[in-house]
Amino acid sequence: MPLLAIETSCDETAAAVLHGQQLLANTIATQEIHQLYGGVVPELASRAHVQRLVPVVQRTLAQAQMTPNDIKAVAVTYGPGLIGSLVVGVSFAKGLALQLGVPLLGVNHLEGHLFSTNIHPEGPAPPFLSLLISGGHTILIHVRAWGQYEILGQTQDDAAGEAFDKVAKILGLAYPGGPAVEKLAATGNAQAIDFPQARLKSAMSTAPPRFDFSFSGLKTAVLYYVRKLAAAELEQQQADIAASFQQALINALVENVALAHAQYPVRAVALAGGVACNRALRQAFVRLGEKRGFQLHFPEPIFCTDNAAMIARAAQFHFSTGKRSALTLAPDPGLVLS
Ligand code: KG4
Ligand code: ZN
Repeated sequence: MPLLAIETSCDETAAAVLHGQQLLANTIATQEIHQLYGGVVPELASRAHVQRLVPVVQRTLAQAQMTPNDIKAVAVTYGPGLIGSLVVGVSFAKGLALQLGVPLLGVNHLEGHLFSTNIHPEGPAPPFLSLLISGGHTILIHVRAWGQYEILGQTQDDAAGEAFDKVAKILGLAYPGGPAVEKLAATGNAQAIDFPQARLKSAMSTAPPRFDFSFSGLKTAVLYYVRKLAAAELEQQQADIAASFQQALINALVENVALAHAQYPVRAVALAGGVACNRALRQAFVRLGEKRGFQLHFPEPIFCTDNAAMIARAAQFHFSTGKRSALTLAPDPGLVLS
């Protein structure tokens, strides 16, 4: 049953066609306009979705060598995300499903990220732990089964990607900051500056134990460090600051996952979300996997950042259980994973 999925929750206009195990098309139009402002401007994002969604869907269908009538189901991200952006995708998907007379399904964007390691068949099988690290979220999830999620911890302030973006700004790098910080960090010394490790808030004594994160202290430490430097010193130390910040953030993630894995000794751990593109982070988790005896999974970079293929995969699972959404489906910007 060929399925068309649409993702417009933030600043990526994306569509994909999935047919059984085969991803027939996957299109992502990144909105460059936000680079001018150093972050996503919600009003500009929704306008860009309006302009781009139809051409993106047309391109996706052409890539899949299909016409709209070949599509047998429509899936769309309905939250969490920016309300104006979600409205564009949800309205379009509802109209299309109605016109084609095919079922509609609203997908939780966060659950989509959980499926991003499973777009191809070699992904982890539940139960496994998934660390979802994106621009908006940092959540450690115990995937008991598909559709059954236990939140073990989450950030109490900034998301991991947000910390990368803010530190990039402090260092005068372009948005989105993650790739820029990673590139600069590769040329720096991660031991040069002893930034306070992003504070762990693991509460092993609570029942069930919590494995929360906090990154705002680390970001502020970078800000105060940089403020004390003269322009020439900053230029000289920029790579070391990027590398030391990145290391402190990775250490916090690794330590928390290690603690969680001791409590939930599953066979597989997955990384998902834009920050999972980071190679230093992947290497640190590969090493943790070797130490603790779990298999580490991470998506291909194109499936780490926002895309519609992961939405299609999540929808395929729910469609197979008979789930459908009514045409009254409404965007839910604060949707949680449950
Ligand atoms: O998953 P995503 O595309 O969007 C959300 O749903 O939030 O993640 C985007 C985030 C941004 O904060 C970006 O800076 C970060 O992922 N990111 C990275 C890397 N590539 C993207 N962070 C660190 N290293 C990277 N290579
Ligand atoms: Zn995302």
